[in-house]
Amino acid sequence: MPINIAIDGPSGSGKSTQARELARRLSYIYVDTGALYRAIGFYVMRKGADTKDEESVKSFLPGISVSLEYVDGVQRVILNGEDISDLIRTQPVSMAASDVSRIPEVREFLLDLQRNIAAENNVIMDGRDVGTVILPNAQVKIFLTATPEDRAMRRFMELKASGKEDDDAYERILSEIIERDKNDTTRKISPLKQADDAVLLDNTGYEPEETMEALLKIVRSKIDV
Ligand code: DC
Repeated sequence: MPINIAIDGPSGSGKSTQARELARRLSYIYVDTGALYRAIGFYVMRKGADTKDEESVKSFLPGISVSLEYVDGVQRVILNGEDISDLIRTQPVSMAASDVSRIPEVREFLLDLQRNIAAENNVIMDGRDVGTVILPNAQVKIFLTATPEDRAMRRFMELKASGKEDDDAYERILSEIIERDKNDTTRKISPLKQADDAVLLDNTGYEPEETMEALLKIVRSKIDV
């Protein structure tokens, strides 16, 4: 039976970076489920439609085919045959993904894709509902979080390092994080929430290596790796 590790948590908790690195160390496949919602949000934006308009988003689903491919172990997201992996990492696409992810039909649309990968491979899957809905039987479940201020500061420092920050960037990022948290935790279906059997890891104030050590400790306490 493949081993499934679920890592859920809010935006900016370091989930993707940590999950990717953990997958590399364990030689598992890393599945970034947020990228799937981003692909749908991106498609709807490209059509010029309103990502908050449920009926309109639903009407696009039959025309959408999303799949994941792995190139040298790195996940690529394929939307109707086009590799859009590099186009979905923008702030507008983040909000669009958060909008479309509230729609039950969108979640249903992406469910089998996520479950099938985990049924056939050892995976580390990160998202919002992996431990609660997608892989309720995952052998390891972790809920990774940090304060909104800490998450905003990390994002701000990343932007600063790449020379992209402006004077009010921190405040803006913080309010976007708070808005997305609200969107993701208050939706009716599959809201962001810690599974009852997930281990909570609050990495506020941690350096990335400290988070990795803490994650490895949790994983090793559950499975033999
Ligand atoms: O992890 P991310 O920032 O790429 O996710 C983008 C949005 O997708 C996030 O705001 C909520 C949604 N999402 C979700 O609803 N369920 C998941 N398993 C992953 C992401």
